[in-house]
Amino acid sequence: MSETAQTDWARDLGLTAPLVCAPMGGVAGGVLASAVSRAGALGMIGMGSAGSAAALERELARLDTGGAPFGIGLVDWGIARDPDMFERALAAGAALVSVSFGDWEGADPPPSWIEAVRASGALAVTQVATAEEARRAADAGVDAVVARGLEGGGHGDHREPRDALLAEVLSAVEVPVLAAGAVSGPEELRRVLDAGAAAAWVGTAFAACTEALTADAARDALLAADGTQTLVSRVLDVALERPWPSRFPERLLRTPFVECWHGREAELAADAEARAEFRAAVAAADYATVPLDAGQGVGALTAVRTAAEVVAELAGPR
Ligand SMILES: Cc1cc2nc3c(=O)[nH]c(=O)nc-3n(C[C@H](O)[C@H](O)[C@H](O)COP(=O)(O)O)c2cc1C
Repeated sequence: MSETAQTDWARDLGLTAPLVCAPMGGVAGGVLASAVSRAGALGMIGMGSAGSAAALERELARLDTGGAPFGIGLVDWGIARDPDMFERALAAGAALVSVSFGDWEGADPPPSWIEAVRASGALAVTQVATAEEARRAADAGVDAVVARGLEGGGHGDHREPRDALLAEVLSAVEVPVLAAGAVSGPEELRRVLDAGAAAAWVGTAFAACTEALTADAARDALLAADGTQTLVSRVLDVALERPWPSRFPERLLRTPFVECWHGREAELAADAEARAEFRAAVAAADYATVPLDAGQGVGALTAVRTAAEVVAELAGPR
């Protein structure tokens, strides 16, 4: 008998697949979010390093989910830098707003974004890297937490493998727990749902979709990579002088540039010439040099597909 993956949490949100396309800055814009949501999962617009009120406005203008729910994902230091972006997110009619990569250890009193998101009618969600963070986030009032394992692509606090973290977080909190980190095929989705996750929060598997903001040359680099080619590093943030807190490095694809400077970030910060050369590589879209964010599941990407195909492959009947 064929069986389609489903959970109460996803059903309550109006989804037919217990899948969230993770907010990915520079990848998950309005077009990808629309395609994912129309396919029955939750599409999200991601505002990361280059997030701004204007960028969010641009992506919201491209959003057309046909009435299906969607989400918006922000980062903590981003909303501090651009409060208008946060206000715009609150007014967008999203079903879920995430704010990730804040400081739960020092979160006393609870961050005000949680109450503001809930007052807007959206679910307030955050990504966590430990059971203690999950406990603090739940105590602060979030509606759900995302247990993000070290396998995950992009920025994060890469501490524990997904399945171990998921089990710990599930025992630590009462709120629904989503699982993130290398959910790249139907087996991984089954595994996290069987373990008790309310849904999977999936980034890399959607990064090469036709609807993503990803450049064609970047898609080729993602398809050519396997999971052993990822590394957790601050090199890209240092090279581009991005204000990410150092406790949130990113998992990205190794390139000779990354190999050269990983572990020598202070030297890179002091080397204006190396950084200028790197910026030229960025301008030339040279992905042999410029590393792309990707998780350990990147090896499962073998073809450029539509978001609907990815949703069906991960969560469809089997
Ligand atoms: C290309 C890329 C960009 C990302 N950008 C963001 C972001 O802007 N905000 C955010 O909260 N998470 C971001 N993430 C992390 C995801 O939310 C999620 O933790 C991760 O994708 C899960 O692991 P996976 O990539 O193995 O599926 C990004 C991930 C990737 C791959």
